[in-house]
Amino acid sequence: MLKLYKKFLDGTPEYLARYYWWAYLWSKSVWFFDHQPIINAILFGQYKKLMHQTLQQLAHTDQTCVLQLTCVYGSLTPNLVQHIKPTPLHITDVAPVQLRLAARKISPATSLLATRMNAEYLGYKDDSFTTTVLFFLLHELPIQARRHVLSEAVRTLADGGTLLITEYAELPKHHFLYRFIPCRWAITKLEPFLNDFWHENLTEKLQYHAKKHGKHITLISNTNIFSKFYRVAAYRVEKYGTTSN
Ligand SMILES: C[S@@+](CC[C@H](N)C(=O)[O-])C[C@H]1O[C@@H](n2cnc3c(N)ncnc32)[C@H](O)[C@@H]1O
Repeated sequence: MLKLYKKFLDGTPEYLARYYWWAYLWSKSVWFFDHQPIINAILFGQYKKLMHQTLQQLAHTDQTCVLQLTCVYGSLTPNLVQHIKPTPLHITDVAPVQLRLAARKISPATSLLATRMNAEYLGYKDDSFTTTVLFFLLHELPIQARRHVLSEAVRTLADGGTLLITEYAELPKHHFLYRFIPCRWAITKLEPFLNDFWHENLTEKLQYHAKKHGKHITLISNTNIFSKFYRVAAYRVEKYGTTSN
């Protein structure tokens, strides 16, 4: 049995090293994947639409203190830096190679504040951010890790803050990519936790975690992309006692 992935267990969660070393941790693959045509192909040609919709939603948020929760390939990070005021954009990821890649795309360097953390256990204090962006992270997490990340995302959002989630939509039963079994097989082979994510009610899960933190979360907008295969969802977080009636 190949245990090659163990080489990448350098402070990274086990699932990340085991299932995604070839995508995010190996420097050669980092170079390979960070090309626009490659990431666009992975997102079935929808990358630009997804990014633009995310940025459009961002325009309606309070940008006093923005967190991008984990790095992504492509131009999302420099675009976020360009769109927010004031900078810096906070970014955190558990993989140093990804943080270095993100930092290389930003000028001046001071407009990005990059920190290495596990998104399941953030070192930020409660209510730190006015907006948090989660771009295609959740479907890559096993159930337990996803619970932790959702909880931390809500905990660290300030009263009146926004959680922007760009992700696969819920189970796309009628979508041709789902109905065509070889395609579904290939996608779920490459994304071993996607099937769980497809079946999850994200809003209910967020409400559960918000309650734990004495907060309330409401879905304020949901844009479907690529015939409901993807979504860009915006949630408003409020502390109990401050919710307007
Ligand atoms: C945001 S996701 C997928 C993004 C998308 N496929 C893309 O690149 O366009 C990938 C990132 O999440 C990071 N990541 C995964 N699990 C994490 C965790 N528990 N804590 C911090 N970063 C994590 C990986 O290191 C990687 O940089």
